[in-house]
Amino acid sequence: MSLGLMARFGHRLPITDATPRLTLGEGSTPLVPAPALSARTGCEVFLKVEGANPTGSFKDRGMFLAVAKALEEGARAIVCASTGNTSASAAAYAARAGIACYVLIPDGAVALGKLAQAMQHGATVLQIAGNFDRALVLVRELGAKGQLAVVNSINPFRIEGQKTLAFEIIEALGAAPDLHFLPVGNAGNITAHWKGYCEAAAAGEIQKRPRMMGYQAEGASPLVRGAPVEAPETVATAIRIGNPASWDGAIQARDASEGHIGAVSDAAILEAWTWLAQKEGVFCEPASAAGVAGLLARHAEGRLPKGQRIVCTLTGHGLKDPDLAIRHASPAIRVEAELAAIGRALGSR
Ligand code: F0G
Repeated sequence: MSLGLMARFGHRLPITDATPRLTLGEGSTPLVPAPALSARTGCEVFLKVEGANPTGSFKDRGMFLAVAKALEEGARAIVCASTGNTSASAAAYAARAGIACYVLIPDGAVALGKLAQAMQHGATVLQIAGNFDRALVLVRELGAKGQLAVVNSINPFRIEGQKTLAFEIIEALGAAPDLHFLPVGNAGNITAHWKGYCEAAAAGEIQKRPRMMGYQAEGASPLVRGAPVEAPETVATAIRIGNPASWDGAIQARDASEGHIGAVSDAAILEAWTWLAQKEGVFCEPASAAGVAGLLARHAEGRLPKGQRIVCTLTGHGLKDPDLAIRHASPAIRVEAELAAIGRALGSR
């Protein structure tokens, strides 16, 4: 039975006796060895499969705590801006807690699975005629009125919960990896990963922290360009963000870890996404593959020393975005329900 992150890491989280023990069994996700990726790069690569969380993304690690703390403080409703996963997670935990959930999402740029989740969990879904960055501005304003608890990663409890990913990696490997690759959008997750590693180092659990390797999509890469992007564009809708809220946290994680924040093209993201599905048997969502695309780029540039121990966080499940998978893959073959026809179809492959 999964006890959830509050039971597992409560001693390292800002909870009190008055904090409701809210859980959907988040965390404890598999750290899967990646033999094909290891062979291709000459490194020892592991995939942290965050799609195995209750709502299919890493957001649950922070959401259980953000919602529990909101309840503790007497909130009756939560609100978030989202490219999809945050809204799915917020909607699920709000349902569990018996409070209302309002989500602002960019019209037409949210993957179908995520929208289905928010709707089915009973959230009020507002599709705004604007992008994620605009939605977050509006949510900050709504939050400032004091009626609604904001559960975006500007809420520090989100970062606190998400730092547990680093703790789980350290438990599994007995040490930090040399390099940790992950996608970067609003930059809460890279900030949280780094916080977790720093706390583990301060507690004497690890001698060395990893180099944090964050990757944005080229068309939505403000941290790489050093300035906000007015109209971010990428096939990886989860990270279609032009002005990350945790900008400073990301830069600090990069610099303090002697890491890197880079950009990868949509083509490279899609290539890595399909390659993971077909060579490792792991189906993540497109944005999740940005970190792996970064790893492959680094390898191709000859900037990846052999023998490194590497973790890639795969942030969300592939089923979040079925449309793109179906559009991108070879189509199903239509065939008569007869053995001969099937034989011909198979022979023609
Ligand atoms: N990967 C996925 C699948 C995401 O959903 C997100 C962010 C990220 C990576 C980037 O993480 O923002 O902490 O740098 N999704 C948010 C959302 C923005 O609304 O669901 P980040």
